[in-house]
Amino acid sequence: MNTWFESGHVAIVTGGTRGLGRALARELLAHGVRTVIDGRDAVVLAEALAELSSLGEVVGLVGDVADDDHVHALVEAAQRFGRLDLLVNNASTLGAVPLPTIEELGSETLRRIFEVNLFAPIHLARHALRVMRRSESGTIVNVTSDAAVEAYAAWGGYGASKAALEQISRILAQELVGSGVRVLVADPGEMRTQMHRAALPDADASTLRDPADAARALMRAIAEMRAPFERVRLSETAIA
Ligand SMILES: NC(=O)c1ccc[n+]([C@@H]2O[C@H](COP(=O)([O-])OP(=O)(O)OC[C@H]3O[C@@H](n4cnc5c(N)ncnc54)[C@H](OP(=O)(O)O)[C@@H]3O)[C@@H](O)[C@H]2O)c1
Repeated sequence: MNTWFESGHVAIVTGGTRGLGRALARELLAHGVRTVIDGRDAVVLAEALAELSSLGEVVGLVGDVADDDHVHALVEAAQRFGRLDLLVNNASTLGAVPLPTIEELGSETLRRIFEVNLFAPIHLARHALRVMRRSESGTIVNVTSDAAVEAYAAWGGYGASKAALEQISRILAQELVGSGVRVLVADPGEMRTQMHRAALPDADASTLRDPADAARALMRAIAEMRAPFERVRLSETAIA
């Protein structure tokens, strides 16, 4: 892996208390990147911080990415470190489980899916960009899913939110050409996490990827990114 991750860099990873986000926070801290994480469950966040703080400088905020004040607080926490190099919009919701078909999908659930999976990443990116534009550098990673491009029955709300996230990421990257800020859309593939268990409880866990492997692949994809916009499938990215 090249040296994109420099000691002293600063990252925000939403949903850093479990699964892919926590595994990524471990990797970033191990590379000396000062990291801000969040999650809604204060107990799980405290437990995550107890582990992660042994690896490096980490700040944790309890909150919901769909809450505007919380989004502002995340960027302010990064600014207290003096810079912001990486934003990873990782926190996400399935909406309801068992996953409903589109006919069964309630408006409130659909609205919540879009608030968490689309509006929150856009809002966070807009605030992060104020900091990144000043330094003329930065990377925004939006975590997507193959449900954004495949038509899986009962994944309509989640899949549509991720498809919209991907398209707005492409357009954002176009708007940022020349700014020094890049946009990466990363599909982690199926991982052994709480989200996967909630969606597909009967899946054979031994066939699912360890989120730690996906996090290492994501680190590599960020480090090797050359174009202003890329979409990567982490299942196809070698682990550093
Ligand atoms: N697992 C898979 O197989 C798979 C496949 C394709 C794509 N993905 C994508 O990969 C990403 C990570 O998924 P994962 O499987 O690692 O999920 P996970 O294990 O369920 O972890 C989700 C994390 O996000 C936090 N979170 C959820 N909603 C939040 C909100 N509204 N505000 C703030 N934090 C929130 C959770 O903490 P709290 O619950 O305490 O808030 C937790 O830290 C997601 O974008 C997901 O769509 C996953």
